Amino acid sequence: MGTFAVTGSASGMGAASAAELRAAGHTVLGVDLRDADVVADLGTESGRRHAVEEVLSLAGGVLDGVAAVAGVGPDLPDAAAVVSINHFGPVALLDGLRPALERSGAGRAVVIGSNSATTVPAVDEELVRLALAGDEAGARERAATTRATSSGAAPSIAAYASSKFALARWVRRTAVTPEWARRGVVLNAIAPGAVLTPLMLGSTGDAAAQDPDEFATPLPVGRFGRPEDIAFWVHQFLRPEAGFTTGAVLVVDGGTDAVMRPEAQ
Ligand code: NAI
Repeated sequence: MGTFAVTGSASGMGAASAAELRAAGHTVLGVDLRDADVVADLGTESGRRHAVEEVLSLAGGVLDGVAAVAGVGPDLPDAAAVVSINHFGPVALLDGLRPALERSGAGRAVVIGSNSATTVPAVDEELVRLALAGDEAGARERAATTRATSSGAAPSIAAYASSKFALARWVRRTAVTPEWARRGVVLNAIAPGAVLTPLMLGSTGDAAAQDPDEFATPLPVGRFGRPEDIAFWVHQFLRPEAGFTTGAVLVVDGGTDAVMRPEAQ
């Protein structure tokens, strides 16, 4: 049985992922702002450092997998914080834990992006560039300028979509570097669509009470996602058998992206 770190373990998809791994007999080290083995704020440099040190110490320096699930939604008014938490949080955590994944001999990492990266027409390329350059101060400043002021739009929608777009691009670029690909550590992303969690309810109001067919984005399967729908794929990506899949972004959204971008591969 393996040892896995899961961020965002206190709620939603992270909690479901931790539960699925535990049910399979694995040891899970949860990381979150509260109710976790490691309590840390992944939106700050010191919090990320603390998270990496604590996970390494609890895991004895060897990890079989990491699921970077923690994140916030576009409803958070502080657009700079959205970028820090959603992009720089997972990147720093995975960079810091990569050597522990390598030591296991078959390390697996998966991050949660979003189908907003491809379905929301609000991606700011300059913000993406700054994020991928590792310029957190610059990305935060840029995010503050992209804050939506029009009524109806979530205040941080551009920062949200851009942070997730940058994260997916970081995964694709990083996964194929020798440091990851030649050392047995695979790195992939999942891009969920509308999944009923506290985050989504915060962004959209009581979506659970809404008709999925009336939702803002199309849901061909006729229902919202459940945290377990994502946890299933998190588990697949973390299996030892998943060693030939790296740099992939798997859309798990009930068909939203396929409807909105039918020509995309
Ligand atoms: P959730 O709100 O149920 O869970 C997110 C968890 O992340 C919470 O336990 C929260 O405390 C933790 N977290 C937030 N900020 C943190 C920080 N600074 N440091 C440490 N932990 C922090 O939300 P959900 O929906 O399960 O979100 C999981 C991931 O899925 C997020 O990255 C989110 O952006 C992404 N996502 C969610 C979608 C949805 O429809 N629910 C759609 C697409 C992506």
